[in-house]
Amino acid sequence: MKFLVMHGPNLNMLGKREPTVYGTRTLDDINRSLEELAAELGCSLLFCQSNSEGDLVNAIHGALTECDGILINPAAYTHTSIAIRDALSAVGLPCVEVHLSNIHRRESFRHVSLTASIAVGQICGFGSDSYLLGLRALFNHIKN
Ligand code: DQA
Repeated sequence: MKFLVMHGPNLNMLGKREPTVYGTRTLDDINRSLEELAAELGCSLLFCQSNSEGDLVNAIHGALTECDGILINPAAYTHTSIAIRDALSAVGLPCVEVHLSNIHRRESFRHVSLTASIAVGQICGFGSDSYLLGLRALFNHIKN
């Protein structure tokens, strides 16, 4: 099994970015932990981070021929991007949405996710563990 792990805008700044909200781990730290878990589960990962909506849409399209599922933190695009939602719908791959912070406890504009209703599920609020929980959930969803 192979999964695309997608990180949306500003997540390249993790470690420096609002550490009280997002923690001190960098994106490389998170990707390394995901690689370790993937090795344990026996699956492989492709990583993608972009600050551009179009690049994320293209990466989702690319996953159709290469991947069995998508683990995505769309970051701010969660709340705004019909294009990313439509791309996920178009490829139809199982997808799990994750967030470091609990978006439902934050500003009201973060309470809406345009992608959650086409995802298998959403995991948020557990810091970098949200990604690890999300990968396990995606793997089990496809395996079962
Ligand atoms: C985020 C939450 C979003 O609201 C925010 O725009 C982000 C990160 C999270 O992982 O907690 O950039 O997706």
